[in-house]
Parts: sequence; C-alpha cells; structure tokens
Amino acid sequence: MPNPRWAGDRLHRRAAQEGYRSRAAYKLREIQERHRVVREGDAVLDLGAAPGSWLQVLTTLTRGPVVGVDLQPVAPVEGATLLVGDFSERVTQDRIREILPAASVVLSDAAPKLSGHRDYDQARAVALGEEALALAMTLLTRGGNFVVKTFQGDLFEEFLAEVRRHFRSVRVFRPSATRKGSRECYIVARHFLGGREPC
Ligand SMILES: C[S@@+](CC[C@H](N)C(=O)[O-])C[C@H]1O[C@@H](n2cnc3c(N)ncnc32)[C@H](O)[C@@H]1O
Repeated sequence: MPNPRWAGDRLHRRAAQEGYRSRAAYKLREIQERHRVVREGDAVLDLGAAPGSWLQVLTTLTRGPVVGVDLQPVAPVEGATLLVGDFSERVTQDRIREILPAASVVLSDAAPKLSGHRDYDQARAVALGEEALALAMTLLTRGGNFVVKTFQGDLFEEFLAEVRRHFRSVRVFRPSATRKGSRECYIVARHFLGGREPC
C-alpha cells in the first residue's frame, strides 16, 4: 500500500510541473468536477486565497470578476483582484464590497494556523467557516453557491445544519487530494435561498 506521505509529495510535484502554486489546486478541480460550483460568467470571491492556486483555477472557469483575500500577500494572478486582510474584519469586508458588491460564488479554503491541539484547532477552523458563511450571506445573489473548508469533529454537525438552513442543496465532500488522516472536508452548498436576484 502506498505511503500516504509519498502520495502527498507526488501531488506536490505534479502541481509544480503543471504550474500551480500549491497542491490545493487539485482539491478545487475535484470539487468543480463533482459539483459544478462555478459557471462561466460567475463573480467569485475566494477567501484564504494564498498562495493563489485556487485563483489560478478560478480564472480558467469564469470570465467574470475573481477576487482573492488573504492575511498574506498573494503574487499577482492574471484576471484576479487581490486584497490583503482578515476577511472576518469589517474593514476588509468593506474593501471587498467596494470591489465586488455581489458574488454568485463564495469559496473559503481559509484555515487557521494549527496549534497541534485537535479540539482547539477544530473549534477555530469551524469559527472561521462561520465567519465565511456570515460574509457569504451578505454578498451572494439568490441561487449562488458557497464552498467552505472545515474539519470534522464536535462542532461540525451544528455548522453543517446552519449551512443547510440557507441553501437548497448541501453536500459534504472530501477530495482525494486531501491528506490521509486529516479531518479536513468541504461543505459544498448550492443554490442560496436568500440574497438579491442576480443582475
Ligand atoms: C490552505 S491555505 C489556502 C490555499 C489556497 N486555496 C490556494 O489554493 O492557494 C489557507 C489560507 O487561509 C488564510 N487565512 C486564514 N485565516 C484568514 C482570515 N481570517 N482572513 C484571510 N485569510 C485567512 C491563511 O493565511 C492561508 O493562506
């Protein structure tokens, strides 16, 4: 049986060969292949965007505006607008709204720095997901899609139930590119029930 660490390295090497900034690109590609969350013409907000591999994928999926936000600066990606800031802070949210008053897709691959304490890290990851959901609900147009990285554990079911209240279809998806043994998964929520009519 292949060592999961080598499998991770293979994906890392493949990303380098294919010009992606990180192996995370393959997670979004799998999410897209399975769930078609982004369509041509969509306006997309990518939360936790550094180093930018999701942005590289997104700019091939839509001709609409793509905005990436991260605590860290992201090197330019052609076709994307980049913002440095904490998306849970009002000042960053105001800057996002200036550039992107409404979005048809909000994605969050944001993850807090891990402390190594499983329950604590899981709680912080879920809290970050809740921040992403709160922001998404103010930006998404009706029928829009939301994808958020989270971690399975104590608070997961509650968060999942909260997402289910606002979207018509919600799935939990674990891309094969996710490292073995990780509790990471993505909530893929389609068709936002609130929001404004799309322009
Ligand atoms: C796994 S990386 C994202 C990888 C990215 N999707 C890609 O494909 O290149 C997680 C990112 O979330 C960012 N992050 C964590 N908390 C954040 C916050 N509150 N606001 C903005 N970015 C945040 C981190 O700085 C980190 O760069």
